[in-house]
Amino acid sequence: MNKSASMKNVMIAMEVLLCLVALLLLLFKHNVDGSQVHPVAEQDEVMDFSDFLEAGEEPVTHPDLSTFMEEHPDHTDSITEAETEDAKIQTEESYQTDQRDNWRLILVNKQNPVPADYEVKLTEISGSMQVDERIATDLAAMLRAAKDDGVSLSIVSAYRDMDKQTKLFEAKIRRCMKNGTTYMDAYSRASESVTVPGSSEHQLGLALDIVGSGHQALDESFGDTEAGKWLARYCDEYGFILRYPKGKEYITGIIYEPWHFRYVGREAAREIMGNEITLEEYLWSMGDQ
Ligand code: DAL
Ligand code: ZN
Repeated sequence: MNKSASMKNVMIAMEVLLCLVALLLLLFKHNVDGSQVHPVAEQDEVMDFSDFLEAGEEPVTHPDLSTFMEEHPDHTDSITEAETEDAKIQTEESYQTDQRDNWRLILVNKQNPVPADYEVKLTEISGSMQVDERIATDLAAMLRAAKDDGVSLSIVSAYRDMDKQTKLFEAKIRRCMKNGTTYMDAYSRASESVTVPGSSEHQLGLALDIVGSGHQALDESFGDTEAGKWLARYCDEYGFILRYPKGKEYITGIIYEPWHFRYVGREAAREIMGNEITLEEYLWSMGDQ
C-alpha cells in the first residue's frame, strides 16, 4: 500500500471514529425509547425559600407550624368521617363515576388549566401560607406524624394565586436566561419546573412544596434526605402523593420534584403511590381524561 493510500485509510478510520463518538453522545442524551434523559434543574436554577417571598417580606425558613398542628387535632376520626361519607354514596358500580366527580381528583396540568370558575376556601397554615381548608386536618396529621418520627418538615410554598404563579414563572425564566439562553428556550425550560400560570396545582390550594428543616433547596437531592424519604414513604397515609416522580416526566411534563405533594385523598393516594403511577395514569385507568 502506498503512502497516500494509507493516509486515506487513516482519514476514513478517523471519520468513522468521530461518527461513533457523535452517535454515543446522541445515545447518552436520549433513552432507548427516544425520550429525553430525565431533565434536572441546573444548580443556578434551583429555588429555595427566598424565591417565594413577596417584595419586602422577611425570609422565614422555618415557618411555625405548631399552631396549625394544634388547631387541627388528630385527623383520624374527622377524615374517616368525611371519606366514609363519600364512600357511603358509592356502590361498587358507581364508584368510578363518583371518583371522577371527586374534588380531590381534579386534574390540573399544562393541558388542563384551573377552571375559570374554580373557587377555593382557604385556611391559614402559617403567616401568608394557606391551603384548601378541606385538606388542613390531613396535612396537620402528616406534619405531626413526621415530627413524632423525629423528622422536621418545613413548608416552602402552598396556595398561590394567579399573580404569584405568574411572578414565580417570570422569575424562573429570567433565571434560566442568565447563561445566555434565548427567551423561548428559557420559557420551555422554566415550564418544566414552574408550571405556566393558570395550570399550577398550587392555584387549587391542594399542593404544597415541603422540605426538611435541614434541606432548604428544592432540588433532586431532597429526595435522598431523611425528610424526602419519609414523605415519599408515608404521604399516602395522609392522602398526599408525590406528584412529579422520577421517570414520569414524559407524562407530567415536569421534572422530578421530590418536594411537591398533592392532596388526592387516601384512597387514590394509596393506589397511586402503591403502584408508582401518576395522577394522570390513575385517571386514565378509570377511563377518564
Ligand atoms: N412546581 C410545580 C410544577 C408548579 O409550579 O406548579
Ligand atoms: Zn410545588
